Amino acid sequence: MTARSDLPADFVWGTATAAYQVEGAAALDGRGPSIWDTFARRPGAVVGGDTGDVAVDHYHRFGEDVDLMRELGTNAYRFSLSWSRLLPEGTGTVNRAGVDFYRRLAERLLERGVAPWATLYHWDLPQALQDRGGWLERDTAERFADFAATAHDALGDLVTSWITLNEPWCAAFLGHGSGVHAPGLQVGARASHAAHHLLLGHGLAVDAVRAGRSGASVGVTLNLYSVRPASDGAADRDAARRVDGLQNRFFLEPVLAGRYPEDVVRDLGEQEWFAANAADLARIQRPIDFLGVNYYSRHTVAAPDAAPLAAPDAAPDAAPDAAPGAVRSPAAGESTFGPAFPGSEDVRSVDTGAPRTHMGWPVVPEGLVDVLEQAHALAPALPLHVTENGSAYPDTVGGDGLVHDAERLRYLQQHVDACAAARERGIPLQGYFVWSLMDNFEWAWGFSRRFGLVHVDYATQQRTVKDSGRWLRAFLREGATTAD
Ligand code: FCB
Repeated sequence: MTARSDLPADFVWGTATAAYQVEGAAALDGRGPSIWDTFARRPGAVVGGDTGDVAVDHYHRFGEDVDLMRELGTNAYRFSLSWSRLLPEGTGTVNRAGVDFYRRLAERLLERGVAPWATLYHWDLPQALQDRGGWLERDTAERFADFAATAHDALGDLVTSWITLNEPWCAAFLGHGSGVHAPGLQVGARASHAAHHLLLGHGLAVDAVRAGRSGASVGVTLNLYSVRPASDGAADRDAARRVDGLQNRFFLEPVLAGRYPEDVVRDLGEQEWFAANAADLARIQRPIDFLGVNYYSRHTVAAPDAAPLAAPDAAPDAAPDAAPGAVRSPAAGESTFGPAFPGSEDVRSVDTGAPRTHMGWPVVPEGLVDVLEQAHALAPALPLHVTENGSAYPDTVGGDGLVHDAERLRYLQQHVDACAAARERGIPLQGYFVWSLMDNFEWAWGFSRRFGLVHVDYATQQRTVKDSGRWLRAFLREGATTAD
């Protein structure tokens, strides 16, 4: 039973979105194309052939959306900057109209008492840079640092909280391993080179932001999973080591401890390449002001050849549209981890009977404490923020004009409880952002998966606060308990 007052008075309570998922206005006011504009047009890449061309029209409706944030009682908004809106070619000339948009957004937020948190890279690399090799090329890390400097010059007087990357695991391994995200490549273990260049870009961007105006707080957001072996057997424990290795440690350790986990580099078969690039680790391990943790679920894993301990995962929604996103989440119906986990492709995901969201992801709130503890153990003094947490359910607006999303409401309560539990254990958790403020373009799933506290009617762009949003408002305003 958590009340708002159980968390510190200066705790950050926010919502999150990302540029390509909400802005729309894809070809407006000088924005250049990104890899997601290209990828979404590839036949079969996105459910229903959906694109972010219009998305939820946040570009034009941000005023109304900021008012909703205030109505919810949140005090922060995490959004991302579209690199190709600010630098249409990825480098070179700055697009004034892009700067103006983000300045107007940040000003509106500040007027409404909502702190702007800007993410520099939420997966939408300018297509011009992809044409030069994208994240598989080291040069992209340098271009990212230049972009960070440009963005900070343009907005640093309004925005003080900066996140370099969102979920480099997804950008590297879904983008270049399984290929279910842009740029849709399948280069096997070489996807780890993209991960390294992303991390190098992170370190260089930290320096670029710090070189600007003082007072900026800068961090990076990783998507961490709680990982458990399905049994105590050595083979299952090794499966958990591999999955935890590539999903969590491969990102946490370079950023926080200046090293890559040797076992993971060995699993990948990339010892030589990582040895040749080891000097970059000093650049990757730049001091940061906070770590952002995105948490959604737990992976319970078993060795490839073990006899099944439980029924293998079944897609709760084995709809024909399951294909593109299926690889993205092994728990959504894959029996193995597939090419997004090079070096552990055959590891199996096991169904423990936990309830699942519309993504097929098991709901395991206590896993949030696991991942915060894992990060905290590596950097005990570093403040942590949950920069995303949320759930998809197939919501509809009822005859009463409301959206009764009881499962999301419960999910939210349980994860807020987990935040309080983490603080009780002495973890310096300082903020919690719900994914997402409103329903939006859910990558390979298009508009078929809804994560919002606010429902969006995609035909009319009408926004309706869901019961989960109404609960959050009550919790934040009145310190309501999570048990009601
Ligand atoms: C995360 C992404 C975010 C959203 C949620 C559901 O991996 O960062 O953009 O798609 O998943």
